[in-house]
Amino acid sequence: MKILVIGSGAREHAIVHSFAAEAGTSAGGAHELHAAPGNPGIGEVAALHPVDALDGEAVAALATSIGAELVVVGPEAPLVAGVADAVRAAGIPCFGPGAEAARLEGSKAFAKDVMAAASVPTALAHVCSDVDQVADALDAFGAPYVVKDDGLAAGKGVVVTDDRQAALEHAAACFATPRAAADGEAQVVVEEYLDGPEVSLFCLSDGSTVVPLAPAQDFKRALDDDAGPNTGGMGAYSPLPWAPEGLTDEVVTRIAQPTIEEMARRGTPFAGVLYVGLALTSRGTRVVEFNARFGDPETQVVLTRLATPLSTVLLAAARGALADLPRLRWHDDAAVTVVVASHGYPGTVRSGDPITGIADAEALAGVHVLHAGTARDGDGTLVSAGGRVLSVVARGSDLADARRLAYAGVDQVVLPGSHHRTDIAAKAAAGEVELAG
Ligand code: AMP
Ligand code: GLY
Repeated sequence: MKILVIGSGAREHAIVHSFAAEAGTSAGGAHELHAAPGNPGIGEVAALHPVDALDGEAVAALATSIGAELVVVGPEAPLVAGVADAVRAAGIPCFGPGAEAARLEGSKAFAKDVMAAASVPTALAHVCSDVDQVADALDAFGAPYVVKDDGLAAGKGVVVTDDRQAALEHAAACFATPRAAADGEAQVVVEEYLDGPEVSLFCLSDGSTVVPLAPAQDFKRALDDDAGPNTGGMGAYSPLPWAPEGLTDEVVTRIAQPTIEEMARRGTPFAGVLYVGLALTSRGTRVVEFNARFGDPETQVVLTRLATPLSTVLLAAARGALADLPRLRWHDDAAVTVVVASHGYPGTVRSGDPITGIADAEALAGVHVLHAGTARDGDGTLVSAGGRVLSVVARGSDLADARRLAYAGVDQVVLPGSHHRTDIAAKAAAGEVELAG
């Protein structure tokens, strides 16, 4: 099959890596893989096209010109910009929701409205349109305070703090962003605080049927012991040995299926992956957030464990045929990924540092290395070019084994000034619950 993947992160590299590994499987042998814009790692197995991922017409024209039979849109920004709509309008099956359905991620106030209509358990929330309303809402809920920018904010939109003044300042900053000023009706969501461990569950949908993948957990804080600032995610693992039995069924029945039905009822069916971010609170399972795309770095571990060919699954979702898909098959071992980040991440990052040792890491059985912020400099040297640079992924017989291998891989990678967490999946591998909040 000819497949075009949109995006340039380790999540997209993971997707392309899964497609490339299907050669010789029931999915029909080797695929012809394309990516836009991609990255140097993706470029090792796919043709790269320098097309603006946010330009729906350009993406649709590219997909048409290469004869793509499936387009997979990875990141949220192109989805919210309507890239999937443009591809579908060109008559090409596309995995990813249209702009209207992607509002489940693009607007937290919209997501709250859908959850309320579908009776989905989530944090109580006030949608505020000025700082006075925010102050009232903070006082109504009490500390810890949770303040969220309504719109896409690249992982920087949420502040959880005991400091009321910091909560107010974050709200004021959200109201003052250029985007908020441009649309004239900025909103800030203030929520009750949710305690308990967090879980990410990807629920595939074709607009009506829901097929869950395996639960995973990511580590959002920059430093060990969940200290330091929030990041896009510093590592992940799957499975979650400590998660309650029946969690996936509960999430499908009480959260994903009602949400998909509500979106269809509104005339904006959601086809793609509904990323359900959960808190397992002392009062039950609650939705922390919806995303309209695969999570990064959770995708790196979930796809490593998926035994059914990914292209078969995503094409069925894109074609509205998930009900006919045979039950998914999973490897019953474990996967861990550790993110290697640039000097300064998640603050001001340093780019242009040389990266070596990837081949040595991949020489370890069960280890592969996915690219995110990498580039080739003028003489072809691989260098860092972003905050999260690499995702070192390992499959092992259990979490302890996968974790040991992942860190053995990280030890082979040399990137001056880089940092990574040393405690990814440590508690879970030792049989304890990971909070990872
Ligand atoms: P979001 O962008 O909504 O996923 O929020 C980012 C992170 O902030 C989540 O993964 C949680 O760790 C934290 N968070 C968000 N909402 C809440 C909440 N209501 N209570 C506690 N933590 C939260
Ligand atoms: N790992 C968190 C996210 O993808 O949003």
